[in-house]
Amino acid sequence: MTPAATAPAVIEARDLTRHFVVSRGIFRGTATVRAVDGVSFKLPAGRTLAVVGESGCGKSTLARIVALLDAPTGGALIVDGADATTGGKAVGPQLRRSVQMVFQNPYGSLNPRKTVGAILEEPLIINTPLDAGARAEAARAMLAKVGLRPEHHARYPHMFSGGQRQRIAIARALMLNPRVVVADEPVSALDVSIQAQVLNLMLDLQEEFRLAYLFISHDLSVVRHIADEVMVMYLGRPVEHGPKRAVFERPRHPYTRALLASTPSTDPARRGRRQALAGELPSPLDPPSGCAFHKRCPHMTELCARERPAPRVLDGTAVACHHAEAVAADAA
Ligand SMILES: Nc1ncnc2c1ncn2[C@@H]1O[C@H](COP(=O)(O)OP(=O)(O)OP(=O)(O)O)[C@@H](O)[C@H]1O
Ligand code: SF4
Ligand SMILES: [Mg+2]
Repeated sequence: MTPAATAPAVIEARDLTRHFVVSRGIFRGTATVRAVDGVSFKLPAGRTLAVVGESGCGKSTLARIVALLDAPTGGALIVDGADATTGGKAVGPQLRRSVQMVFQNPYGSLNPRKTVGAILEEPLIINTPLDAGARAEAARAMLAKVGLRPEHHARYPHMFSGGQRQRIAIARALMLNPRVVVADEPVSALDVSIQAQVLNLMLDLQEEFRLAYLFISHDLSVVRHIADEVMVMYLGRPVEHGPKRAVFERPRHPYTRALLASTPSTDPARRGRRQALAGELPSPLDPPSGCAFHKRCPHMTELCARERPAPRVLDGTAVACHHAEAVAADAA
């Protein structure tokens, strides 16, 4: 489900799925976790699609597929017009260079035994004919672009703050001139005071290099800062996907409304008017029938428990809800 995209897509997901078969215990056989269960989008150069949803809704699983680290169990992934569905090493080096990932944890994602210079230059050794001098020069230039200094080249990751380490991780991701950066909660581990600096850096770099971002976050205030489009996921499926303004200002899916209600509003007129998120997230091993959200939804009807709602495009936003029109009218 994708709202009409006008610019050509640098990356396109077509009905991606990733299902895991897990054991339920010695006597109970196996079950299938539909971690990602039908995700489609088109992302043009220079734009950011933010993916939001509660813990376990499939954000990181989707991120790893799109970053070509894992193969989907179904659907297709197209990068720059070429099929990259197989993921991992099976994808040619050129395509693999086009998509890079920034992880949540800037402490774990950088090798502590290597200098920053060695970390940044590593992708150049494998993928380019540059000699040692040219590689060091490229690394120093990239350090400057992410707001670090040339002398940082010889230092080790533990000598940096969390925000600086995430700048290094971003620099590493950009060394091979990717077209797409997948960022999985890239600022969640940072102090709030540092988060905006790193997000602003990402926005500057996006403009300079025309990067497409798939930006994963559970934090709606971060999404509001960085996104062009927002996809809200629930139990592996997109429930609402549209332009940021539409999703924030006129949410059409009850789950989106509930997520927004759990974030403080800056508009006093809207405070307290939205539905809070009730009930527990169902087990992904045993998702509810029909609409997966129906046990928590204030708008639920008998139809919702029986039939899974197909996504429909309403005013440029795709919504998977039987009663989206009524929900939107209620929110207005
Ligand atoms: N390798 C795996 N084997 C089995 N199940 C998995 C595996 N990886 C993820 N899952 C399951 O898939 C679902 C989605 O997990 P995922 O990590 O993608 O969620 P998430 O949205 O990133 O959550 P969080 O916000 O906590 O990071 C969860 O139910 C998770 O337990
Ligand atoms: S389909 Fe029904 S249960 Fe699901 S979100 Fe819409 S109103 Fe709620
Ligand atoms: Mg995750």
